[in-house]
Amino acid sequence: MPSIPVEIPSGPYAVECERGVLRRWGALLRELGATTGIAFLSSPRVWKLWGGVVARGMGAERGARTVLFPDGEAAKTISTLEKICRRLAVARLDRRGTIVAVGGGVVGDVAGFAAATYLRGVRLVHIPTTLVAQVDSAIGGKTGVNLPEGKNLVGAFYQPALVVVDPAVLRSLPARQFRSGIDEVVKYAILGDRHLFEFLENRLAEILRQESSALDWILPRCIALKAQIVSQDERESGPREALNLGHTFGHALESLTRYRRFLHGEAVGWGLIAAARLAEAIEWLDAEEAARIEALVRAAGPLKPVPRIAPSKWIAAMRGDKKTRGGRLRFILPRQIGEVRCAENVPERVLQTVLNGLGGARRPK
Ligand SMILES: NC(=O)c1ccc[n+]([C@@H]2O[C@H](COP(=O)([O-])OP(=O)(O)OC[C@H]3O[C@@H](n4cnc5c(N)ncnc54)[C@H](O)[C@@H]3O)[C@@H](O)[C@H]2O)c1
Ligand SMILES: [Zn+2]
Repeated sequence: MPSIPVEIPSGPYAVECERGVLRRWGALLRELGATTGIAFLSSPRVWKLWGGVVARGMGAERGARTVLFPDGEAAKTISTLEKICRRLAVARLDRRGTIVAVGGGVVGDVAGFAAATYLRGVRLVHIPTTLVAQVDSAIGGKTGVNLPEGKNLVGAFYQPALVVVDPAVLRSLPARQFRSGIDEVVKYAILGDRHLFEFLENRLAEILRQESSALDWILPRCIALKAQIVSQDERESGPREALNLGHTFGHALESLTRYRRFLHGEAVGWGLIAAARLAEAIEWLDAEEAARIEALVRAAGPLKPVPRIAPSKWIAAMRGDKKTRGGRLRFILPRQIGEVRCAENVPERVLQTVLNGLGGARRPK
């Protein structure tokens, strides 16, 4: 089974990625050592679809509790966290208990934060069920909840002990959700894997149809890339910044459209297009490579157009992103497909031209 190591100094763990692994993941759980109890944290929707498979695949463990909570972004709150922790306390999950998060990024982030804080930390296992969660959010230890003032403003770095990825669960994912996950896959290819980018260009139709011969090849590749980057930089002080490719624009676009118009991955798709155009404009990236990036993002899914937004609003929203440093705009931009660097001091005039161009359907010439 492809077992991908995440070599985090505070505690290494493995991401086990294989089709069908959920039917026998209990053996992996038992390899972690004894536990006094299991609590599944999931959403009603995901648990209805996959809870039976997960529970049967766990095998011999007895007395598992299930705590379900809504997984809409609106439920990613401190109040949901409190309800979960109270349910865990009533169920008497103790310090040697294990939380198993079964769901997309919302479930993973909230359940991960519960695991980090309940009794000051209990063992955490992630079973991600969306493409975004499988290639991104379940790996790397970022957990947290939103505040009315902004997304993911309260949280902790807390690494799981094990991540179990079964591509088969993606079958029930709505097509729009799946496609928006592909934008994150394209992000990985641009930031560090040219071969993956070419594979995506050549086999996108098969991937979108979830043919296992194509999908099961790209998943471990993305996971390995994320694992390698977070292993170098657990707390996001350096190399991990590369993962922000497309996200400075993407987060701004999500917030300017009040999180209603775009799924996260779709906003990142636009962010990748913006990054490619900006990199081309400052002569970091060939026109031909920029065009390939844009073509791949557009082929991955229909992107709703970007509404007209004044560049000043864009810039204010990007400055508000929690990853800016001292209000200075920094952009992770491609130098070529497969390599990114951080650009500081991008001339405002160039940025404005690119931002103005996003609102239109065509590339500005
Ligand atoms: N921690 C990180 O590093 C990190 C990274 C990226 C994103 N995130 C967070 O992840 C969240 C987004 O996660 P997401 O894109 O996975 O979306 P999500 O968790 O909101 O799930 C999307 C929808 O898909 C449903 N769903 C999940 N699995 C399913 C399945 N197998 N079949 C059918 N339906 C299924 C869910 O019920 C939900 O309605 C955001 O809150 C974001 O902040 C965190
Ligand atoms: Zn993202």
